[in-house]
Amino acid sequence: MFLGVDLGTSSVKLIAVNENGDILGESVRDYPIYYPKLNYAEQNPEDWWSATKEAMKELVGKLDTSCDKIESIGLSGQMHGLVILDEDDNVLRPALLWCDQRTQKECDEITDHFGKDKLRDLTANKALTGFTAPKILWVKNNEPEIFNKISKIMLPKDYINYKLTGNFSTDVSDASGMLLVDVKNRKWSNEVLEFLSINEDMLPKLYESSQSVGTVKKELKDELDIENDIIVAAGAGDQAAGAVGIGVVESGMLSVALGTSGVVFAAHDKFAVDEDARVHSFCHANNKYHSMGVMLSAASCLKWWVEEVNKNASFDELLEEATKVEPGSNGLVFLPYLVGERTPYPDPNARGCFIGLTITHTRAHMTRAILEGVSFGLRDSLEILRELKVPIKEVRVYGGGAKSQLWRQILADIFDCNMNTINTNQGPALGGAILGCVAADESKSVEQVCGKLIKVTNTVEPIAQNVDKYNKVYKIYHELYGTLKGAFN
Ligand code: XUL
Repeated sequence: MFLGVDLGTSSVKLIAVNENGDILGESVRDYPIYYPKLNYAEQNPEDWWSATKEAMKELVGKLDTSCDKIESIGLSGQMHGLVILDEDDNVLRPALLWCDQRTQKECDEITDHFGKDKLRDLTANKALTGFTAPKILWVKNNEPEIFNKISKIMLPKDYINYKLTGNFSTDVSDASGMLLVDVKNRKWSNEVLEFLSINEDMLPKLYESSQSVGTVKKELKDELDIENDIIVAAGAGDQAAGAVGIGVVESGMLSVALGTSGVVFAAHDKFAVDEDARVHSFCHANNKYHSMGVMLSAASCLKWWVEEVNKNASFDELLEEATKVEPGSNGLVFLPYLVGERTPYPDPNARGCFIGLTITHTRAHMTRAILEGVSFGLRDSLEILRELKVPIKEVRVYGGGAKSQLWRQILADIFDCNMNTINTNQGPALGGAILGCVAADESKSVEQVCGKLIKVTNTVEPIAQNVDKYNKVYKIYHELYGTLKGAFN
């Protein structure tokens, strides 16, 4: 059997899977996120490790490892976070996370130094506040005494892999989001490293996601009461791992992730870059490439609406009410920029709004407007991919929000595409397990394993009259950010 680990932003989730894709067990542990100032978001890497270790002990305790051995572990990780260690491997400061927005000045500094075109030629991307390179520069500019002690720089899941194996490694998909990688050639960009005053020795060795980076250390195996070798795969960033876990591994396939963040992800057989770097161009976890647009708040908008604003109502109750509202929410439009935005507006100051409220609107209209607003935000990324002539043969949707039939219908109508769901909703954790499965047996490929385990089980088709309605509302939505931008600062 194979373990898949999804190191997320609020919790770590572990699953055990056999080679038919049956889930043999799972365990979850939460950890805190800290917001020490507006625009800051931090976590303690030690919390990730203790949570992962505890969850692993619990899961292994539930499994029958005497007849079915654990062959490998593969991690999916929240991307872009900066973890820094000193020469004795102590964590130097809390990790700056993907959703931390403090680095606009550093992004400008990087862009001014290289120029947008050169930066895109070097890294296939542009400097965005979530990415890792601006976070390194922020530490250099603001905490020089810490910067001078840095011996190792890594991403969240790489910290766990380092603890598991003792090997300092990363994978190309996750590393692509650091703005330190020459994505096309799958290697570190020395020019960017030099500008940041760091060198390759401070960075992990780069692997393909399904390569083995070592085996689990003996002391941990002893704690788990396991004797056989357990291979650890390089793993992947959560978006690439999620795409593997839903079978989006070849050109023509798109996934839509409705998690905390919202992502439209296109797999590419060959390297492709957007001249304006509006969507990210990254390495995929199957030795290929992908591009994606990332919204910072997707299902988290609904979570905020239910858990903060409507504390006495449940998700089910609010979603049920919203199904009774006509598409378009009677003229009410929601902008989902609750924590700023990334694609298509890289703006930490963007803010959420309800536009067009009248006395006739009810809570149900507002709930539906939230689902529609997030879907319009995702369509912004889809339109960029369409403009870039990315082939779109099939769209698969996953993540917490995809459980809602209503939300899938709204997405199908707003995208004017069939929305498929598959036989499992394990997403990135399953992607991690698949990468581990390939790492343990090089004769397999990611595509083969996905083909065997993943099947489409449900399709929601667009409804023509809703498509027309939403095309009109999308035009209004699309103009609103530009109109309101001045009021956000
Ligand atoms: C991807 C991104 C998020 C985080 C958190 O670019 O920022 O998906 O990885 O899940």
